[in-house]
Amino acid sequence: PDAVTVSGLADLIHVRLDHLQRVITNMGMGELHHDYMLTPEDTTAIVLEFDINPIITEDKGKDVQPRDLPDDMSEFPLRPPVVTIMGHVDHGKTTLLDTLRKSSIVDSEAGGITQHIGAFAVTLPSGQRATFLDTPGHAAFSNMRSRGAHMTDLVVLVVSADDGVMPQTAEAIEHARSADVPIIVAINKCDKPGANPQKIREGLLKYGVQVEDMGGDVQVVEISALKGTGIELLVENIVLLAEVLDLRAPTDGPVEAAIIESQSEKGRGLSASLLIQNGSLSVGDIIVAGQSYCRIRSMTNDLGKAVKIAEPGTPVSATGWKDLPEAGQTAIQVESESLAKEIIENRIGKAKQAETLKQIQAINAKRLVSH
Ligand code: GTP
Ligand code: MG
Repeated sequence: PDAVTVSGLADLIHVRLDHLQRVITNMGMGELHHDYMLTPEDTTAIVLEFDINPIITEDKGKDVQPRDLPDDMSEFPLRPPVVTIMGHVDHGKTTLLDTLRKSSIVDSEAGGITQHIGAFAVTLPSGQRATFLDTPGHAAFSNMRSRGAHMTDLVVLVVSADDGVMPQTAEAIEHARSADVPIIVAINKCDKPGANPQKIREGLLKYGVQVEDMGGDVQVVEISALKGTGIELLVENIVLLAEVLDLRAPTDGPVEAAIIESQSEKGRGLSASLLIQNGSLSVGDIIVAGQSYCRIRSMTNDLGKAVKIAEPGTPVSATGWKDLPEAGQTAIQVESESLAKEIIENRIGKAKQAETLKQIQAINAKRLVSH
């Protein structure tokens, strides 16, 4: 805004209107009505009077951070790998997941299009457990793909052999790269008459993905998610890569969990799907995520079954949130509800302060320009 009213400024800098008006009068600017439009010059002068320093912000409030883990994690137990399935729209990601867990999610999706991140605990044929995140391939859901890539240990990149390396294939490669996560390529729909897996291998080269049989070290498997062919080999590759990554996490100590998604549901209230990263989450625990907290009222696994405790590497849906947490944030356990409230109050205060400073800086910038 070019200018701000007296009451608008009072809101902006969090002082009472009558107090602001008194200060203005004392500055020799007369008695101003709350609707009076202040010029940017006046505003700056008044703000300076309040001694708001846009650079130094002191912080004495309580907060909570993820714990420091040692470089050498060997003292901790192994956890299931988190595998994110990514790729272009309709290339068969959800079908692959259905085949892996012998389910039929695709049939229940509106228009057969995935519109959220699904998290599933899968017991692989080898008996090992893994958590799969299914991401949407539609162009509009780039944020979800980015989030998926940042929560995962490895990415299975699904590319349809009857189509090719498409825009969201390339985008998925970028996400995996920026999250520094290894890729396994699954060339899908190899059952189709027009399938050309070699074309996919060559197409991937253009994006810097060099698969094994093209001289690189990225594993590639030809599959048909629909017919179930090649799935065993894909699973073997996933298990092998997970073993190499030696994925471990402490099962005790304060819980940390990634918010995969959050929603308001009829009958359940506010809920969030979480991916447990460290520690074991139990019903009754208190976790803080951003400006929201939760005393866990209930937890359900991906089959909708109630669970009392969730360990690292597993997804759960948790109810009991006071506000909807933001996807992508990290939830951290605290000892008490009162501490959770204190932390959130502090975070909200800090966010407000940052916002105020930004607005004051904008006003100042405007003033400089107008001179
Ligand atoms: P989005 O989530 O919208 O990005 O799609 P998706 O990648 O999850 O694709 P989905 O699994 O919904 O499959 C899209 C279509 O391809 C469906 O009609 C599937 O039956 C079909 N399909 C998937 N895998 C195969 C396969 O291996 N062979 C054949 N012939 N069809 C397949
Ligand atoms: Mg899908």
